[in-house]
Amino acid sequence: MEASSLPLSEFPNLSVDPARLPRHVAIVMDGNGRWARVRGLNRCEGHRRGKDSVRAVVETARQLGIPYLTLFAFSNENWQRPKTEVRFLMQLFHRYLITESKRLMKRDIRVVAIGEMSRLPAAVRRVLSDTIRLTAGNRTMTVVLALSYGGRQDVVEAARRIAEAVAAGRIKPEQVDERMLQRELLTWNIPDPDLLIRTSGELRLSNFLLFQLAYTELYFTETLWPDFRERDLLRALCAYQGRTRRFGMVDDGASISLSAANQA
Ligand code: IPE
Ligand code: IPE
Ligand code: MG
Repeated sequence: MEASSLPLSEFPNLSVDPARLPRHVAIVMDGNGRWARVRGLNRCEGHRRGKDSVRAVVETARQLGIPYLTLFAFSNENWQRPKTEVRFLMQLFHRYLITESKRLMKRDIRVVAIGEMSRLPAAVRRVLSDTIRLTAGNRTMTVVLALSYGGRQDVVEAARRIAEAVAAGRIKPEQVDERMLQRELLTWNIPDPDLLIRTSGELRLSNFLLFQLAYTELYFTETLWPDFRERDLLRALCAYQGRTRRFGMVDDGASISLSAANQA
């Protein structure tokens, strides 16, 4: 049986309350290089293996009924890696999109992308836009691929568009508010993440969704991304469900409970 098709009943100790699921889970999929290194393999083998984790996590999130899943696959800064690694990753994205499109359709999963798409090789751009178009009508879950994405660049681009609107007289400076900035971000039509998972033991954001993570619950695990499977996602969700989200308020019962926050 392939890892991605394990029924969730295989994990009775990790029961997740379906009424309090996060609406949006975002993942920094880190640790592929280290996974390969400890096995004496090339870093790229870690990336290749990481693709299986992507499939397992997408399937599990879909089975659970999580509406939005964002996967940080390639950062703006990752362009500075060795050319051979960048080329390998681009080929991997290309292959992933081609091989997964049937499965995504079958599962009613919509794919969208955030990032500087113009920097991607033409072949990747082409299959990416084909996949986005093909899956646009799917409704059960949205998978957001963060490719060539940078949180600071996202905010800078949004600020520039607002500045242009002010300069052109379309809006007044005093009209600029959080909502306006939010609407100019690449994630304008996606709710803020409720849960951020980062694998591989690194305790940082690495320029991911900086504005959007303001009140997100953070979950860090030592597990390296190629080892991260159903069980690990369930563990993260259990940890999330054990938290109280206050959003700056007081915990007197009047503050927003997890389920209420998800419906907001
Ligand atoms: C994450 O794994 C994949 C990408 C950033 C594309 P890494 O390649 O960063 O693996 P480590 O952190 O070097 O182990
Ligand atoms: C963040 O991981 C980017 C992705 C997982 C795609 P990095 O490995 O690039 O981050 P740093 O360099 O450890 O901060
Ligand atoms: Mg890394």
